[in-house]
Amino acid sequence: MTQQAKDCTCLSWRRSERIIKSSEITDQFKNIGFGSFKTEDKPQLIKDLFRCAMDYYTDFDQFNKTRRNSIALLGHPGSGKTHLLTAISNNLMQKKSVSVLYFPYVEGFNDLKDDFGKLEQKLERMKRVDVLFIDDLFKPVTKEIKGERVKVPRATEWQIEQTYAVINHRYLNYKPIMISSELTVDEMFDIDEALSSRIYEMCKDFTVVVKGDRKELNHRLED
Ligand SMILES: Nc1ncnc2c1ncn2[C@@H]1O[C@H](COP(=O)(O)OP(=O)(O)OP(=O)(O)O)[C@@H](O)[C@H]1O
Ligand SMILES: [Mg+2]
Repeated sequence: MTQQAKDCTCLSWRRSERIIKSSEITDQFKNIGFGSFKTEDKPQLIKDLFRCAMDYYTDFDQFNKTRRNSIALLGHPGSGKTHLLTAISNNLMQKKSVSVLYFPYVEGFNDLKDDFGKLEQKLERMKRVDVLFIDDLFKPVTKEIKGERVKVPRATEWQIEQTYAVINHRYLNYKPIMISSELTVDEMFDIDEALSSRIYEMCKDFTVVVKGDRKELNHRLED
């Protein structure tokens, strides 16, 4: 390898190291890839989920600057939504030098709600980063209502307002988002139509909703 080629490799390595550091993806998730995702003996929906994520990563350069440049993996807990979106993130950062920001919806907003300065700074980064990964959007909390346990989405007016500002900015500027959520598209529309219809339009080409038998779909329940 020539000195120039070595310098170049070193520069691009340093660049992706910087990108990875600022992504806020935790150490535990930094090594997650597509290779460790099992599809054998899994239901067709899990195979579809995997294929959707792979296709999104492979074709990313083709649609990056278009309106339909985003991905939404929705539905059953433990089906691998976070795993696959993390695999896309790690690959985009390491192999395509694309910057990604990981935003876990519940913890992210809890951390920001009492600190206006921090909130403004974070919202700016969420608007500007190449790809924004919102994990567990509207993550439901289980409540007992009239003796029945029901899942209620977490979506305060404030959370909706902040999320809308970020998504609308990205929508208008053709910037991709990656969303995981237990909610279906309809359930999201019930929360806020203006926000959800933008997400729907952006993710139209890469949306999978996993619904069905818990024992088959929740990988955490595998022996
Ligand atoms: N098909 C799979 N092959 C290998 N590991 C998997 C697979 N599906 C999920 N996992 C692993 O199971 C665990 C749960 O997956 P993950 O967190 O991605 O699920 P999720 O759909 O995001 O769930 P939740 O809605 O609860 O956040 C993770 O440790 C993940 O790496
Ligand atoms: Mg998850």
